[in-house]
Amino acid sequence: MSIPSGPDPAASYSRTAKLVHWASALLILVLLVTGFRAGFSVEETVKVAMLRIHLPVAFLVLILTVFRLLWWLWVQSKPAPLGAVPAWQEALARWMHRALYLLIFVLLGSGIAMSVIGGLPDALFGTAPLPDLSELPPRAPHGIGARLILPAVLLHAGAAFYHHFVVRDRTLRRMWFGR
Ligand code: HEM
Repeated sequence: MSIPSGPDPAASYSRTAKLVHWASALLILVLLVTGFRAGFSVEETVKVAMLRIHLPVAFLVLILTVFRLLWWLWVQSKPAPLGAVPAWQEALARWMHRALYLLIFVLLGSGIAMSVIGGLPDALFGTAPLPDLSELPPRAPHGIGARLILPAVLLHAGAAFYHHFVVRDRTLRRMWFGR
């Protein structure tokens, strides 16, 4: 049985794929804001408040990202590129998507490692004192990953706008809701 995804299945994303994409985008923005706010703050109360949002949201991103990969693997393959740009640009987009997944997993992995080593759940939601996060070995890869994913997200969004406003194809529209 095929998945209903509009009149032109080869060129559209399913409603589930769109929901997961935009929910992930929003939650990753929340992670960037709360993460940098915590990272640059010297006040412990601000750090704790930001990380109380950061950790549960990161957990949601973990679930959505694993769900998304399983979805592409087992449920529905991605629609083919629309063919409106040169092949090298399509290849660049493919590598950028892979880089985004890689960076998300580096951030999730280093974040979870920091959380386990530093006993963060107990420090944030229990009674333990907040550890010195800069002392934790996964803190450095987490900071580097964060500084790399920010330009990667901006390039990804910039490419979508380039398709929409310059090339004027359906790349952005087919990831949005409705027809
Ligand atoms: C896609 C996933 C994630 C993104 C985009 C993200 C983003 C960020 C950013 C931008 C920072 C600030 C980095 C800096 O100032 O150098 C940060 C710090 C941090 N993140 Fe994440 N993060 C993610 C996942 C996680 C996870 C899964 C955890 C823990 C379970 C976590 C825990 C932390 C902690 C403890 C800090 C340090 C805050 C501080 O030094 O005050 N992050 N994150």
